[in-house]
Amino acid sequence: MTHANPFESFPARAYLEKYYSYVGAENDAMLRALADFARHLEPRFDRVVEVGGGPSIVPVLALCATLERSPGSVTFMDICPKNLDEAASWLDHETMAFDYTAVLRWLETQHGVTISNIERLAMSSDWRFPVVDLRQSLAGWMVHAFDTISSHFFAESVTSDRDTFITLLKRIADLGAPEATVFLSFMRRSQGYSIGGIDFPALSVDEETLPNLLAAGGLHLLDAQYLTINAETPPTRTGYEGMVFIGGTLSDVPAARPRQRQVVAAR
Ligand SMILES: C[S@@+](CC[C@H](N)C(=O)[O-])C[C@H]1O[C@@H](n2cnc3c(N)ncnc32)[C@H](O)[C@@H]1O
Repeated sequence: MTHANPFESFPARAYLEKYYSYVGAENDAMLRALADFARHLEPRFDRVVEVGGGPSIVPVLALCATLERSPGSVTFMDICPKNLDEAASWLDHETMAFDYTAVLRWLETQHGVTISNIERLAMSSDWRFPVVDLRQSLAGWMVHAFDTISSHFFAESVTSDRDTFITLLKRIADLGAPEATVFLSFMRRSQGYSIGGIDFPALSVDEETLPNLLAAGGLHLLDAQYLTINAETPPTRTGYEGMVFIGGTLSDVPAARPRQRQVVAAR
C-alpha cells in the first residue's frame, strides 16, 4: 500500500479508554456472546491467536473467565507495535498499564471467578506479540497453527475495500488448525469511525452479507452462530447500526447447510 496507513499511529490508550473503561450494552453483549459461544463450542484453548488485537486483551480475559482455564499460549498479533506494547504492559504489571477493572468486575459477577483468578489465568499463559501485517502472506510458523481464533472489530474496521477485507478473512482462515474454534465480532453497517481526531475506514457488513463474505474468505464455519445487536444509545462510534458476533468451528469445506442462530437484542 502506498497511501498513509492510519494504524501506524493508532491511539492505543485513547481507544481503550473510549471503548473498554466501562461495560455498557455493547461490551455486555460481546462478553455474553463470547461466553455463550465458548460454552457451546468448547475450544481446545491450547494455541490461541488474537488477530488484530489492537491494545485490548478483553477477549482473552473473557475466555479465561468463561472456561476457567489458562490458554496454553496466546499469540497476540497486530500491525501496530504501539498497540502490542499497550497490551503487553498489562501482563508486565506496569504501573501505567490500562485498568481493566470494569471488564474484570463484570466477568467476576457473571462467571463467579474472582478478579485475581481471572488475572492469574491470563497472566500464566505463554504470550507472544508479533507485529504482523495481515494483508501480507503469513509466515510459515503461523499457518494452520492455532486451535482457537479470536478476532474482533478487525477486518471490517481497517479497510473500506471489499477485496482487502476478504484477504484479511483468508489470513484468519489460514491461521486456523483443522476444526479450530473461531470467535469473531464485526461492527454492523459501519461507515468508518474517528478516535482522537484520526479517521479510520470501515467496510459496511451485516448478518445478511457476512455469510457470503466469510465463505469468500475461506472461513467456512460449521455450526455457525450469529448474534446481532443494535447500537447502544448514545452510540460509541458514529455511523454504525450495531454489532454482529459470530462463533463456529472452522471447516476445510463449505458447510452444506450452515445452521445459524440469530438473536436481535433491540434496545
Ligand atoms: C478497530 S481496532 C480493533 C482492536 C481490538 N481487536 C478490539 O476488539 O477492540 C483494529 C486493529 O487492527 C489493526 N490492524 C489494522 N490493519 C492491520 C493489518 N493490515 N494487519 C494486522 N493488524 C491490523 C490495528 O492496528 C488495530 O489495532
